[in-house]
Amino acid sequence: MIYGVDYYPEHWPAERIDKDFRLMKEADINTVRLAEFTWSLVEPEENLYRFNWLDLVLEKAVKNGLSVVMCTPTAAPPKWLMDKHPEIYPIDEYGHVRGFGSRRHYCFNNGVFRDYSKSIVREFAKRYAGNENIIAWQLDNEFGCHDTARCYCPECSKSFSLWLEKKYGDISTFNEDLGMSFWGQHYPSFESVTLPVNTVCDNKREGMFAHNPGLFLEYCRFASDSVADYAKMQVDELRKAGVDVPITHNMMGNFHDIDYFDLAEELDFVSWDCYPNLAHGSFTSFRDVSYNHDKTRGYKNAKFWVMEQSSGQGGWNYMLPTPDPRQLRLWTYQSVSHGADGIVFFRWRPCLFGTEQYWHGILNHDGTPGKRYEIVKKTGGELKKISDIATGTGTRAQTCILYSFDNTWSHSYQKHSETFNYNTLLHTIHGSLTEMGINCDVTGIDSDLSAYRLVILPAYNIVSGEDVMKLEDYVENGGHVAITFRSGNRDGSNRINGLPLPGLFSKMCGIRVVDYDAAGKSIRKVATTSGVVDAYTWCDVIEEDTAVPTARYLDGFYKGSTAASSNAFGKGMVHYIGFGTDGTSYMKLLDGIAASALVDRPPVKNVPGAEIVERADGDDRFFFVLNHNSHQVMLRLDGLFKDVLSGKQAREVLELEAFDVAVLYLIREDGEI
Ligand code: GLA
Ligand code: GLA
Repeated sequence: MIYGVDYYPEHWPAERIDKDFRLMKEADINTVRLAEFTWSLVEPEENLYRFNWLDLVLEKAVKNGLSVVMCTPTAAPPKWLMDKHPEIYPIDEYGHVRGFGSRRHYCFNNGVFRDYSKSIVREFAKRYAGNENIIAWQLDNEFGCHDTARCYCPECSKSFSLWLEKKYGDISTFNEDLGMSFWGQHYPSFESVTLPVNTVCDNKREGMFAHNPGLFLEYCRFASDSVADYAKMQVDELRKAGVDVPITHNMMGNFHDIDYFDLAEELDFVSWDCYPNLAHGSFTSFRDVSYNHDKTRGYKNAKFWVMEQSSGQGGWNYMLPTPDPRQLRLWTYQSVSHGADGIVFFRWRPCLFGTEQYWHGILNHDGTPGKRYEIVKKTGGELKKISDIATGTGTRAQTCILYSFDNTWSHSYQKHSETFNYNTLLHTIHGSLTEMGINCDVTGIDSDLSAYRLVILPAYNIVSGEDVMKLEDYVENGGHVAITFRSGNRDGSNRINGLPLPGLFSKMCGIRVVDYDAAGKSIRKVATTSGVVDAYTWCDVIEEDTAVPTARYLDGFYKGSTAASSNAFGKGMVHYIGFGTDGTSYMKLLDGIAASALVDRPPVKNVPGAEIVERADGDDRFFFVLNHNSHQVMLRLDGLFKDVLSGKQAREVLELEAFDVAVLYLIREDGEI
């Protein structure tokens, strides 16, 4: 398996490389990722190329048996280029230029930039295609980071017009489909269509955004397509110049501006950058990290890499909390358990200058190996033992959550009630399942669903008739589906489809939603078969056709009405959850739903703050048990296991120290011979 580091030799004298490589090898590190921000070094003036320093790094990598992930350097366009072509700078929705001084200062649609990108990508490929130490290429770096996937420059405006014209053909269809008769917004031509820039009704601070919802959704799709198209251009250049190894890109967790399913189609494998412990403020718990691992795996329904695995505390203007060094090992196993067969740490050594001086690496600022190095080294040694498991087994999930970018974008604009957040809903439901030890795939509706016992569609609002037919077919053949409030009521133009709720899902669900309460923070009590729970954010008032009620409101103007239901449909069942609630309550609801769908529970019983992730190859089952608590835990075992890391057998009870990990091979389940 790949165990690597993001390495920036350009930040130190060349004499340091030998020492770095020696330390890497001693820690079982076998790969370095290079060069994603080096355009100004490699091409200091237009058409003047300086590859010698990078050649030297590669030569030394060969000598030391280190593999290389080579990056195209387009995430940092050089100053000479920006001075010559300031039209490359992205422009925000207020018309302000987003200028030089950090990174990613380019518009994906800018033709001049595309030409320059092609030429630098070609130069890199000409130089390094066929180099046998290069095992993969990474395109650019974190497309869209720092809010750069959406640009509002004149070039984007032109491209958006062409994109719409290609899709709609004539302007009257466009006006009609998106409902431009509202506030008299008819556009006379595609050229005149505006990007969703700031208008008199917008007030972002108060969460007000006033553009036509259909236009906004089309713009989100267009901006996402622009990135995928730019990526494809780079892939084509690399391939034309003879690159024949896999090509990837480092995606981000909790980032929604690019349809990663589309981007993944341009890539041979996907990777993402995993910063647990509040990096960028984006992750609040280890369950969020797991959710993002599962989601990343779902973009291609395949194994992936973590291209930047946190190796210490982060920080730009101030430092984020320092992780316990043992967490570096734990997080690595967490990534591996969810399907990463490449782990690359960000970064090897913290920089002495620049924006990220505070971003810690494996070494210390002074270049010495300390606690972080020791733990990375220990983990490297251990991973060799389980490398066959990491690469030879697959994740195993009988449950799947369906996610869509159209829905993310639509919900982000009109969030139904003050407290609704689509992605939080998905995180919460995923967290409830994994808390029960139920492993879960997160993927798109185009995936093959036939192997799942339970498919969950949280707030699946924009849905096509075709997709509903696919789901109906799945249930008729014995599948179980759970659907929540705010589903089935919009079409692909982001229009409300005007059907009785839950719209296209009505038949499957066997219910009518006759009213609703955008409850926000107000709490309504709901009686369920597992006790009384709080409902907030949203409450659907349900009347049953063929379904049976499974929960009832105890207050509100709809007291006594149905809040959730189940409907037998063909050989399967469709469950409808009409209200928003917290993770613990979703757990109660999903516990029963999963049981009726015959979803297996693992023979290792989870406890709070721990995680159990199954990997399997045929009948060989492995359970990664991850203790994210800063205290010891005891987990009940229903069977006889062997801990692959310690070599010891385990039965009845597994004791795990704070932040510790076990990889349990199931010898036999209790009750079996
Ligand atoms: C005002 C306007 C209406 C409508 C409502 C609701 O009263 O005159 O056109 O916009 O607010 O927002
Ligand atoms: C991202 C980037 C890296 C670095 C880290 C830390 O993941 O890809 O270049 O900036 O964040 O901020």
